[in-house]
Amino acid sequence: MKAVILVGGQGTRLRPLTLATPKPMVPLANKPFVSYVLEHLKENGIEDIVFSMGYLPEGIKSYFGDGSGFGINLAYVVEDHPLGTAGAVKNVEQHVRDGDFLVLNGDILTDLDIRAMIEQHRVKEAVGTISLTPVEDPTAYGLVSIGEEGEVLGFLEKPSWDQIDTNLINAGIYVLKGEVLDMIPAGVEYSFERGVFPRLVGKGLYGFSSNAYWMDIGTPEKYLQAHYDILEKNVETSVSDCLDSDFVCLQGKVNLETGAKLVPPVIIGDGTTIKAGARVGRMAVIGAGCTIATGCAIEESIVQEGARLHEGVRVRQSIIASGADIGPGTVVAGGAIIGENASIGGDNILTNHIRIYPDTVVKKGSIKF
Ligand code: GDD
Ligand code: MG
Repeated sequence: MKAVILVGGQGTRLRPLTLATPKPMVPLANKPFVSYVLEHLKENGIEDIVFSMGYLPEGIKSYFGDGSGFGINLAYVVEDHPLGTAGAVKNVEQHVRDGDFLVLNGDILTDLDIRAMIEQHRVKEAVGTISLTPVEDPTAYGLVSIGEEGEVLGFLEKPSWDQIDTNLINAGIYVLKGEVLDMIPAGVEYSFERGVFPRLVGKGLYGFSSNAYWMDIGTPEKYLQAHYDILEKNVETSVSDCLDSDFVCLQGKVNLETGAKLVPPVIIGDGTTIKAGARVGRMAVIGAGCTIATGCAIEESIVQEGARLHEGVRVRQSIIASGADIGPGTVVAGGAIIGENASIGGDNILTNHIRIYPDTVVKKGSIKF
């Protein structure tokens, strides 16, 4: 079976991380996010995969190429303008025309049993099968109500509170019959969530409910949470083995000075230096080639590739993007995001979900927020 991964969105809610890097290439535990989607597909026996792209396609193409390095076959289709989720699939019709095919939102981390989902789709002779997962707040998702046989009774995208009658939502993975392509107009914006699925209610559309791990990484909070879940092995990923039983994963050669302290769970990238008297963890992912100076303390945070943290920097529940430079004594906390190659002087306090854009220069002691 072939799969289409939708990666055309701009990832606006993850800005500034997605200004120069498309959401699929934003690192998750030091690997492009979408590589987890590809690994998950491969584990489920799906090896022919099409990327449906729009925003910043080049980085994805050059990293994954034809897929042979990852043991899969990849094709790429780039839209001139956003076609919506269904329009994007119509646009790659030539790749999926024969038989059933899979569609995946490209921003979902899950270990869902796709094989079992395909099996249910075949047993029910469904026209379409939507993966479903329970969430506490369905308002940011597609609300799906199902009957006793799993048949979809209603599909409502981004419901308001008074419309919510179930906690099951669209988990963003579909198995579809080829004939669904005939329902989608070509060359115009059209969506599965507001077009195809509401029209298919009562006409062979089924839900596949599961309690597998599931997370849409589309906001900074969820992106951080996905890291915590990988670190705690709440989700089975290729990083799980490296974390082993001590929950410390050193990826390659890490220069850990005597007196540097790692508090598990923690992941440290290749070539990173942690100086004496620095403390990293619990719950921290440090990218490759970073420098963490004496007196630094990093917990529940992500520091991407090549960042430099000078003496006594404290980071908590925050994200420092690649190449950023953080001056001595600065505090980064409370959901702050420091963009790529930003240069933050010493003695600043950056908290309250502040978002510093890439390449920004912040003078010493100028923000105490
Ligand atoms: N190629 C292409 N073209 N891809 C697109 C387009 C487009 O015009 N628009 C969105 N996408 C891709 C995004 O890159 C993302 O991977 C996926 O489609 C879903 O878009 P989001 O913008 O992330 O949607 P959402 O998170 O608000 O809602 C969707 O996902 C929820 C689950 O996380 C919907 O499918 C909901 O029903 C669902 O519950
Ligand atoms: Mg999303």
